[in-house]
Amino acid sequence: MSPTKTIAPEDVIERVAELPPLSASVSQVILACDDPDMTVGQLTQIILQDQNLTANILKVANSAFYGHARRVATATEAVVLLGFSAMKSLAISSHTARLLKTSLPGYGLEDGELWAHSLGVAFIARRIAIEARLAPVEEVFVAGLLHDLGKLILSSYLQPVFVDIVRIADERKEPFHHVEAEVLGFGHAELGGQIAASWNFPPELEEAVRYHHDPAQATRKPMVAHAVHLADAVCMMLGVGLGADGMAYTARPETLDALGYDQDRLMSLMSEMEPLITDTAMRGTLG
Ligand SMILES: [Fe+2]
Ligand SMILES: [Fe+2]
Repeated sequence: MSPTKTIAPEDVIERVAELPPLSASVSQVILACDDPDMTVGQLTQIILQDQNLTANILKVANSAFYGHARRVATATEAVVLLGFSAMKSLAISSHTARLLKTSLPGYGLEDGELWAHSLGVAFIARRIAIEARLAPVEEVFVAGLLHDLGKLILSSYLQPVFVDIVRIADERKEPFHHVEAEVLGFGHAELGGQIAASWNFPPELEEAVRYHHDPAQATRKPMVAHAVHLADAVCMMLGVGLGADGMAYTARPETLDALGYDQDRLMSLMSEMEPLITDTAMRGTLG
């Protein structure tokens, strides 16, 4: 027997509005990075207005993730080395990092587990994007980082029906997120898309978040959605930030086809990424 708890759409919209809005400086950086007339000097000035963002950018520029031999000491150097697209991604990431570090009891995720999973998916998606020559890779990184954003809101709705969802998913051998959407009337992917839209994030990003379980539905940049979906499945297979959502979750065959992955290639991606995403020091990156 299925529980009948469903969410009223107006409730959810209200909860999306309660999430902290983008700061003026983050919005400015996002806009500036898309402005073809923007110079390195002008962008650096905008970044420097936000101490937090500046510190994060320097931390990332000097992290093992970018692996530059020389220390990046100033914001100007970081903008030149990493590029405008990376600055846009980092601005979006610095806004969301704080939110993603919370625990989500509704998904069986302890403090920091959603963050570890989000960061893991971001790194893997970026690697997939480089191999598939998807550009800009930073956009794929951020889509990976934000893919489970909807869980922030759905967690509290999920708590009372969690046991039922786990039981149904187990009985039917269906992925947790299928039963979640059926029982609540709303899935975290769809909701994540709504949150991204409410923050005026780029439409490609919104789409990749919305369709991260079913990337073939994406119409703007389906390859970005495929990369995030595959990265999500790989991260789950590596056991990072599983929670309940890891139940019966596998990469879709059309995604493996679209990106050209067979079992051998998948195994080598997993063994390449495992040391990086299980390194807890990397979780201090990006905020
Ligand atoms: Fe998900
Ligand atoms: Fe996920």
